[in-house]
Amino acid sequence: MVLPVAARHDGMTQATPIVAPLSGAERLQRRMARGTAFLGSQTAIICGAMSWVSERHLVSAISNAGGFGLIACGAMTPELLDAEIAATKAMTDKPFGVNLITMHPALFDLIEVCSRHGVGHVVLAGGLPPAGSIDAIKAKGAKLICFAPALSLAKKLIRSGVDALVVEGMEAGGHIGPVSTSVLAQEILPDVADKVPVFVAGGIGRGEAIAAYLDMGAAGVQLGTRFACATESIAHPNFKKAFLRASARDAVASVQIDPRLPVIPVRALKNAGADLFTAKQREVAQALDEGTIAMGEAQLQIEHYWAGALRRAVIEGDVEHGSLMAGQSVGMVTKEEPVADIIASLMEEAAAALAQRAA
Ligand SMILES: Cc1cc2nc3c(=O)[nH]c(=O)nc-3n(C[C@H](O)[C@H](O)[C@H](O)COP(=O)(O)O)c2cc1C
Repeated sequence: MVLPVAARHDGMTQATPIVAPLSGAERLQRRMARGTAFLGSQTAIICGAMSWVSERHLVSAISNAGGFGLIACGAMTPELLDAEIAATKAMTDKPFGVNLITMHPALFDLIEVCSRHGVGHVVLAGGLPPAGSIDAIKAKGAKLICFAPALSLAKKLIRSGVDALVVEGMEAGGHIGPVSTSVLAQEILPDVADKVPVFVAGGIGRGEAIAAYLDMGAAGVQLGTRFACATESIAHPNFKKAFLRASARDAVASVQIDPRLPVIPVRALKNAGADLFTAKQREVAQALDEGTIAMGEAQLQIEHYWAGALRRAVIEGDVEHGSLMAGQSVGMVTKEEPVADIIASLMEEAAAALAQRAA
């Protein structure tokens, strides 16, 4: 906005216009512009896919509130995914995406279901995209988002045609890598943020952190834990209560008990379920020793264990023996509130932080 001509100290007027500083909200909008253009949403806030939690209700609520929702396909069959996408479309006319797990045995059928529905964004989680999957996803014009756990892999993914990256640190809920969000962001953003949009995830609970990652070059952010207890989330009331009671220190990473059986650590709230996981690892390690299963099958069994345990907590409300996957930002989840309020708070906090910046 151009203000009236300024008066000079010697009484003369000069023609140089004074440009009013941008408001925090305008700065936020500018910093998110690349992310919102890529996602087609109002804000560059993605609600990360959470198995059992990220279904039609939460996903449509997120997209309707200006965020970007992702259906967690998890272990769904192609038929179930088909129904979930159709139901989500009936609840929102805003864009949303689908998160697929690379090791799903029917991955290509699931991609076909997404294509048939014209899903605009597909996230591949759980490892590098298998041969042919990138072309299959992009063939009908969908944009592909992948997780980059290190700079070398980020570059490799970009070379193979991935359209955007998620950089997720070990503060996050669910399956995690070994490096923190702040370190990963410093490692990856300076080199690749100008090549593809990068969304930072893990441990984000407030808008000030969003503003900081945008300032570092991120196109947007991805949050999971902060949305798990939203009013629209179908998670069992016991699951939500456990989140509301927990602090950052309660969200701990699982421990690998056998060096021969590499298991991806999972961050979840401490409960008796953690002991059950230890027992499961022993059982699978023993089967490996006895030669009754191969390594691939062993790892698949571990993944099935997590899916079952998460269902037990999220759907059945067994918060003692199920898995309460949660990130360290769980301490910032203080009440059950509508998705629109959560997004509004995050945006206000980010805008207030940016209002303090010089430009
Ligand atoms: C309960 C729960 C379940 C999750 N399930 C999945 C999943 O199925 N697939 C996936 O890619 N990420 C999954 N995540 C990770 C989220 O998509 C998101 O990246 C993560 O929660 C971001 O970090 P934050 O929890 O610190 O916000 C899950 C997270 C939580 C808390």
